[in-house]
Amino acid sequence: MRTLTFRRPDDWHVHFRDGAAMRAVVPYTTRAFGRAIVMPNLTPPVTTTALAAAYRERIRAAVPEGMTFTPLMTAYLTDGSDPTDIVSGFGDGVLTAVKLYPAHATTNSQFGVTSMAAVAKVLAAMEKAGMPLLVHGEVTRTEVDVFDREARFVEEVLAPLLADFPALKIVLEHVTTAEGVAIVRENASRMAGTMTPQHLLFDRNEIFRGGIRPHMYCLPILKRSTHKQALRAAATSGESCFFLGTDTAPHLRHLKENACGCAGVFSAPTAIEAYLKVFAEENALDRFEAFASLNGPAFYGLPANDERVTWVEQPRLVAEAVEVEGQGEIVSLFAGETVGWSPATA
Ligand code: NCD
Ligand code: ZN
Repeated sequence: MRTLTFRRPDDWHVHFRDGAAMRAVVPYTTRAFGRAIVMPNLTPPVTTTALAAAYRERIRAAVPEGMTFTPLMTAYLTDGSDPTDIVSGFGDGVLTAVKLYPAHATTNSQFGVTSMAAVAKVLAAMEKAGMPLLVHGEVTRTEVDVFDREARFVEEVLAPLLADFPALKIVLEHVTTAEGVAIVRENASRMAGTMTPQHLLFDRNEIFRGGIRPHMYCLPILKRSTHKQALRAAATSGESCFFLGTDTAPHLRHLKENACGCAGVFSAPTAIEAYLKVFAEENALDRFEAFASLNGPAFYGLPANDERVTWVEQPRLVAEAVEVEGQGEIVSLFAGETVGWSPATA
């Protein structure tokens, strides 16, 4: 039985939601991760420093007693974002980054950016301040095939953005394609890419294995196997431009198992287990700490966590669902299945 000890990891992309759902999901992240970048796509979205500060307080109140956890906040970029507010929020330590959702790309992105020209002033101010831009990298034109949206974004939006703002720090979030991996690598001096458990573990066939599986539907959608191979090679390479970001995205069961189901995989309860499976299969457990605990903080200019955690290659049965008080339940990645790794009990 293998064991692995590494610095406490961080999750550089989470959706905590709000209210009862937030209180139900936050403990799954805080038990495994020291810090997390919190996505701002609430309704209404977290668009200003003041809204982010208030949301941070609600998250802190949901952290279980005795856990040390730091939520790192983001502001939702809109055509009307105020550069002064965004950059002063960064300077004050309330905001860590800005999130770009192309309008209508994904869950609660209807207030997102309609064109890069509309946000040029904010991006210029961020570039000057050294504030990172986190990008949901998909074009949204309906004529573009859903499986091609990331590759088209890389070519049509991201490449020009990198050229127009040569010092802007950019994270291509939830990278799902070989094209995404390539542009991150080419710009590694000021770019990074996060990777989710599901895109490292599965290809698009998983959505249709034996019937339609709504819990495997997320955006960007799972891609073909060649892309998964490119992601696995990048994640396990140890290269500092690739790091962990689960994109854990909880939705109530009835909104997933629905004629028009929501996008998002709730991976927080089994994320470390899932990533460890990938690294074990790739014989790269020695590079797990770089991906999970070192490369992210280095990109953000933060120290790595001091605390060490130990995981054991020991099977564990995952609960069928997580209860949200008064609302229903959420089904996680590997719900009702056995995962191969468990946290060691001290
Ligand atoms: C996310 C959500 O539900 O908020 N969904 C998803 O499929 N990943 C939004 C996002 O990150 O695209
Ligand atoms: Zn997300």
